[in-house]
Amino acid sequence: MENSVFVKRRQQLIAALQPGSVAIICAATEQNRSRDTEYPFRQHSDFWYFTGFNEPDALLILTNRADLPAAQLLCRDKDPAQEVWHGRRLGPLAAADTLQLQAFSLSEQSPLLQQAINGSAAVYLHLTENSALLQQITGQMQLLKQREKRGDIAPTQLVDLAPISAAQRLIKDQSEIAIMRRAGQISAQAHIRAMQYCQPGRFEYQLEAEILHHFALNAARHPAYNSIVGSGANGCILHYTDNSSELKAGDLVLIDAGCELQGYAADISRTFPVAGKFSPEQAELYQLVLDAQYAACNAVKPGSNFAKVSAAAEQVLTEGLLGLGILQGELEQLIRDKACKQYFIHGIGHWLGLDVHDVGAYKVPGPDSAAAEQPFVPGMVLTIEPGLYIPQGSPTEPRWWDLAIRIEDNLLVTSDGHTNLTTAVPKEIDAIEQLMAVNNDPN
Ligand code: GLY
Ligand code: MN
Ligand code: MN
Repeated sequence: MENSVFVKRRQQLIAALQPGSVAIICAATEQNRSRDTEYPFRQHSDFWYFTGFNEPDALLILTNRADLPAAQLLCRDKDPAQEVWHGRRLGPLAAADTLQLQAFSLSEQSPLLQQAINGSAAVYLHLTENSALLQQITGQMQLLKQREKRGDIAPTQLVDLAPISAAQRLIKDQSEIAIMRRAGQISAQAHIRAMQYCQPGRFEYQLEAEILHHFALNAARHPAYNSIVGSGANGCILHYTDNSSELKAGDLVLIDAGCELQGYAADISRTFPVAGKFSPEQAELYQLVLDAQYAACNAVKPGSNFAKVSAAAEQVLTEGLLGLGILQGELEQLIRDKACKQYFIHGIGHWLGLDVHDVGAYKVPGPDSAAAEQPFVPGMVLTIEPGLYIPQGSPTEPRWWDLAIRIEDNLLVTSDGHTNLTTAVPKEIDAIEQLMAVNNDPN
């Protein structure tokens, strides 16, 4: 990504601060996995968004004060002995040039933080995330207060940065949209690969392996979240990630998987028959979820919101469940009672971006301060993911038991509606059956 993109993002954030204030953002730290091995490093989303710098333990200080540099980075020093074991470090000298900001050694953290805080009206930081930094800042504020006789000025406000950066990240810029489009394509192709590889006797983790392999072959080293591959009753467990069962003819398999590309998540779900042909019950329930998904997608346009999109899906699901005898009663009453939520047990979708459940408010202040729905505007990216889950023992005929279906796509809101970023993987029954008839088994 062009460096100018990060500079522009920092300028936009700085403009949103109260005059004479400072914002402080921490990089992620490495996470221990076992003994002396670490999890793959994942940068803090906000830190990445405002710097494009992928090293741990750094600090970004942004300010609109005229007497301080607008952007200062504190990062690890070069260290040949450490680098030969653990990897290259950019170091402050190169960081300044590469990232177009002022850069310093982490050893200068205390005086630089004090300089930034002293005389600032407000200090913005993630109040709920990093208690060590919060403690350091409040400690310094107390110190400044004690030294007011000497001319120091303690800030009077500590403000949560999270909603401000979230509002900015909610509207994707052109570079983000290009990456998310590509993440959607890669992930869609990975789902196709899993569908074609699927057959009875294989294991859920083998479908997961096909998906991860395709991600990595296409520059997406990691998934955006742990892949869910749930066959049969496992599909009814929403966050099933064991992926350990053998695939059985006659079962459906629900896959929820998306890659992370340059920090950005895709989030796709598809459901298909292990043996490549839907049974009559599976086809009826599947078609119902698909119809609900189309109804919800059609409602995604500027001015719409998650409540409207959810209502469109719930209308279709309720009518369909009534038609199939899974729900009983009077349609309008069932809709009012949200009866379909017994089987559609999660939300219709969520914001998507650097985090799979991305930041961004779902409610905004409305008239008379009552909370109103966040209206969709061009540049927002969101998922649409209706599902039905009918576990054993549900108050239905047993032929519906253990069916679990979710269909999830990623939509970009545009000025005239939306673009679906994940259409490349089929979701029509005929198209899935045709695709699965072409086996890509390499053996
Ligand atoms: N993959 C998580 C979700 O669909 O929300
Ligand atoms: Mn998902
Ligand atoms: Mn999702």
